This record gives sequence, structure tokens and C-alpha cells, in this order.
Amino acid sequence: MQKTSILVLNGPNLNLLGKREPSLYGSVTLDGINKMLGLEAQRLGVVIESLQSNHEGILIDTIHEAAGTHRGIIINAGAYTHTSIAIRDALLGVKLPVVEVHLSNIHARESFRHHSYIADIAIGQISGFGAESYRLGLLALVDYLEKKADSMN
Ligand code: DQA
Repeated sequence: MQKTSILVLNGPNLNLLGKREPSLYGSVTLDGINKMLGLEAQRLGVVIESLQSNHEGILIDTIHEAAGTHRGIIINAGAYTHTSIAIRDALLGVKLPVVEVHLSNIHARESFRHHSYIADIAIGQISGFGAESYRLGLLALVDYLEKKADSMN
């Protein structure tokens, strides 16, 4: 049987992790996060595919392509979290379960970061645990998918 596949999407400026405002985002690189997630996915018996883009349209195209390939999406949309109705609409359009993650606690920062266009259409939001937010997001999504599969049997 084919393993459950999960798309991990990262938005603008997250390619700079490791060098970017380390007091807020930590010293781990995106590559480091993806490696850690790959190991966690292996442990959970799922596979992940990761993509980072600084371009809203590429993120939207990737969300569209996820339908039929992936069973769920983990997304850190970076600043697009607070601005992009188009990313929200794309996520709604593909009807895949979504977990929103952030390294920093967006609710403890500037007020313009408190609103997320993704939060209310996601299963949940994990914010403030640094790189660990992604691992917790993966655990939450896999748990959700397993429970959904159980309830269908
Ligand atoms: C972020 C929080 C956003 O407000 C910010 O624009 C980012 C990173 C985080 O992971 O904490 O780029 O999504």
C-alpha cells in the first residue's frame, strides 16, 4: 500500500531561516527543519514533500497540484498568512486538511500578525515553538488522518 503523503509548504523569507532574525526564529535552517521532519515522517510511516517559495502564485499552484497527490498540508505561509485571501481560497478549493504552523508566537507579536487568513479554515494552528512547531504540526495532522480513516472503517 502507498504511504500517506503530506505536503509541507513554506512561504516568503523562510529560505533565510538560520540567518534571519535568529532571536525570533532560531538558528535552525529550513533544510534542517525538512531533515528533522523527514525523520519524524519515517517514524510515523508517512512521507513528506516540502516546497518553499517567495512567490504567492507558486504557492497557490502547488496547493492546486496537491489535490490527488497529498492527504494533507502543513503550511507556514510567512507574511502571506496575514495578507493572502488567494492562498486561503486555494486551500479551501482543494479541500485537504490543513495545519498552520509558525516558528514564532504570532499572537505575542505586532498586532498586524495576530490575524491569519488560514487559521479558521485549518484543523488547527501551532505557533511559537520554533522548529518544533513543524514536528507538532506533523503529529497533529497524522493523528487527524488516522482518526478520520478509523471512523470510515
Ligand atoms: C512566521 C510569522 C510571520 O508573521 C512572519 O511574517 C514570518 C514567519 C513564523 O513562522 O513565525 O515570515 O510565519
